[in-house]
Amino acid sequence: MSADAVATIQERLDALGNRFEAAFAAAPTEHELRAEQAKLLGKKGELTAVLALMRDVPADQRPAAGALVNAFKVKVESRFEACLKALGNAALRTELEARPFDLTLPGRLSLGRGHVHPVLAVRDELLEIFSDLGFQSVDGPEIELEANNFTKLAFPPDHPATDMQDTFWFDSGVLLRTHTSNVQVREMIALAERVKQGARPACAIVSAGAVYRRDDDVTHSPMFNQIEGFLVDEHVSMAELRGVLSALAERLYGPGTAVRFRPSYFPFVEPGAEVDVACVFCHVDDGSRSSCRVCKTTGWLEIGGCGMVHPEVFRHTGLDPERVTGFAFGMGIDRIAMLRYGIPNIRLLFDNDPRFLAQF
Ligand code: FA5
Repeated sequence: MSADAVATIQERLDALGNRFEAAFAAAPTEHELRAEQAKLLGKKGELTAVLALMRDVPADQRPAAGALVNAFKVKVESRFEACLKALGNAALRTELEARPFDLTLPGRLSLGRGHVHPVLAVRDELLEIFSDLGFQSVDGPEIELEANNFTKLAFPPDHPATDMQDTFWFDSGVLLRTHTSNVQVREMIALAERVKQGARPACAIVSAGAVYRRDDDVTHSPMFNQIEGFLVDEHVSMAELRGVLSALAERLYGPGTAVRFRPSYFPFVEPGAEVDVACVFCHVDDGSRSSCRVCKTTGWLEIGGCGMVHPEVFRHTGLDPERVTGFAFGMGIDRIAMLRYGIPNIRLLFDNDPRFLAQF
């Protein structure tokens, strides 16, 4: 390169200077500003091309040429920073001047209306039916004393019946109740107190709620719901129990729905029975039923247990078994919901998958 190599570099830098200043100033966004900067200073940028000329600059002129290039770089950097700041300020101004963003406005996505869970819908329907039949609804605790869940219901200590209702224990003597029958104990104790004050030994009570067992398969869940009912008075008979459960079956599954009692054992009733209703899916009772997956072609579906209150339970709760009689029943609400809606797996009721729940 000739002696005026420095002048040539100066010329090239001046030309670049004019172009980049205009390009930086015109960049509308930070992204484009950075792209312009890369065009100039990047590996294959325009300044790199100018630097290549340095090879031809005579040694004595190199410091001067280097100083020119460095000064140019400093200028580029400072213009870049200034433009970046200006863009940031402009963006802030636009945001501040824009219509205020009201966080309290409702979102645009509509959430859709929820509805009562199928198990709770069935529970409410059951409570309404029993209310119409004259039963009063009460609540009972889910965390219960062993005495109210087992002992006062005449479960002998270590009796195999307690194995059928294996549950979750807290400290000794306290457990998650395995059935709603604990409410029988609590309400009969309260009734006995009223009787001492001169009240008639009579009550008709239902109670619905969650119960817990160490169970887990397609029809058994570790947490499920039961509804308990019992009626205490003088001269109560099993015919009345049957009448109440027949009325329930007809209200739940339609007029004429049959109910059947199968002898069974529960320590707190005598006699005791399982309650079956005529299968709501195949409904045929003339021998022509070919196959029904739900009732396994038996024509009957079990919904709970029942019986006449055992004299031991009256004794344990302070009522006189010579004077009072009573019946009791307990049913699985989730089972009734499964039958009502044809749900094959109990777990579906507790997974709370919106695709499942939206079908009700
Ligand atoms: C009882 O729990 C008695 N307390 C019922 C009773 C009350 C009998 C009053 C006599 C007098 P059982 O263990 O059979 O009985 O349960 C009653 C119903 O609860 C069953 O018929 C079934 O519908 C439901 N059930 C039982 N275990 C489960 C479970 N793990 N998951 C879902 N439902 C269940």
